[in-house]
Amino acid sequence: MKIRFALCLIALSAAWQTHAADTGEDLARQWCANCHTVSGNSTQPMFPRLAGQQYDYLLQQLQAFRNKSRHDRAAHDYMWGMTAALDDATIEGLARYFSTQKPEPNPAPVDDALANAGKQLYQNGNPAAGTPACASCHGANAEGTAIAPRLAGQHAEYLTKQLHVFGTNQRPAAVAMQEIIKTLKESDIQAVTAYLQSVR
Ligand code: HEC
Ligand code: HEC
Repeated sequence: MKIRFALCLIALSAAWQTHAADTGEDLARQWCANCHTVSGNSTQPMFPRLAGQQYDYLLQQLQAFRNKSRHDRAAHDYMWGMTAALDDATIEGLARYFSTQKPEPNPAPVDDALANAGKQLYQNGNPAAGTPACASCHGANAEGTAIAPRLAGQHAEYLTKQLHVFGTNQRPAAVAMQEIIKTLKESDIQAVTAYLQSVR
């Protein structure tokens, strides 16, 4: 009798976990897809690409929207409402869904000379200005790491907007980026974001 009860509990909790994962995926397809697309490879620059993004980063950003600590204008206008009613299990399901979608190359064209200058800065930094190599945290191919998000294939326009946000206090979790942005000129931002959009 006791054993059967225990088995029943295990089955129930397994069913619940599956349900939580489904909730993330269903929600992603039905709701998030309106802006980010089903595969997370949005083509509209105002909607960041989520496909292949680091799981931990997605989790942290969804929590930061939900608790309103990430408070740049678009976060406020678009993502606060989206996340307000999500529980932890659903946020985990959403992060799992988008982190496991295949990132596709960004089809938007970039200026080659600009992208080459950006690659140089991305890989080596600029010691004279105090800029560290972006690759040291974001990975050699901008695929992201356990400590920093994927940037490869992301819309240059979105990346530019976020770099400017790092010059404010609107993303308080981004301690490293708030220091790094002080070392970048507008021309650096243009170059590095063109490069990142073009990375496959
Ligand atoms: C109505 C359009 C819209 C919908 C629907 C939407 N988003 Fe967003 N999302 C945005 C915009 C715009 C941004 C950029 C916010 C900014 O610039 O700070 C964003 C940003 C994000 C980010 C941060 C990406 C990064 O690189 O930092 C994540 C994660 C995210 N959304 C996940 C989701 C999930 C999960 C859902 C579904 C529950 C969802 N979004 C639904 C418009 C939307
Ligand atoms: C010391 C590690 C580190 C270095 C070096 C670094 N970054 Fe970051 N970067 C981060 C972290 C961590 C985040 C996530 C911040 C957060 O949680 O809000 C981030 C976020 C970003 C974002 C926002 C991405 C998004 O989806 O919203 C951009 C853009 C970015 N970094 C560009 C750069 C560029 C360009 C360089 C080189 C000039 C660089 N980073 C160097 C750690 C780093």
